[in-house]
Amino acid sequence: MRRVLLALVLLSVAGAAAAQVVNHDIAVQALMATRVNPAALAFWAGGNDPPEGETPAEAEARWAEAVKGAQALQAGGRALLQHSRPGRWDEYARLLIEGGETGEAAARAKDMDAAFTIGGDQVYNACNGCHKAYIPSPVRPQ
Ligand code: HEC
Repeated sequence: MRRVLLALVLLSVAGAAAAQVVNHDIAVQALMATRVNPAALAFWAGGNDPPEGETPAEAEARWAEAVKGAQALQAGGRALLQHSRPGRWDEYARLLIEGGETGEAAARAKDMDAAFTIGGDQVYNACNGCHKAYIPSPVRPQ
């Protein structure tokens, strides 16, 4: 079940990446591609099923990356506030910060269930809510 939900999250992100963006903002795009998206993947790996045959040392490293990812989500949310737009933009940016904060605590505690819940709730809702409002559905190329 875990893998299924996270796969859906990743699909929705891939959809966002493929979308034709109205009001294209290169700075926000770079922030997503280089900071927010890698941070989310690292954090989600904490709540996801461990890879087959993972050693204790590898698990340790995965959780350390999840902590860093959660911190980078907080930084990403703060950076998004600097690119504020009319509407609910700031609300989603703050949700990302909040998800990063509670996510950091869960990752430090290596609490897989909490990391999974936060990843699918606050973090996912921040990504998806903002993308739905600010990245309109893909325009099909003519
Ligand atoms: C406050 C708004 C907001 C939040 C929160 C947000 N995004 Fe984005 N995201 C955007 C916008 C706007 C774009 C389109 C940028 C552009 O190209 O102009 C975007 C684009 C992207 C892209 C495509 C980047 C590319 O290379 O074209 C990815 C991937 C992405 N976001 C991932 C995420 C993930 C993962 C999260 C949550 C962890 C997230 N975003 C949270 C606003 C947001």
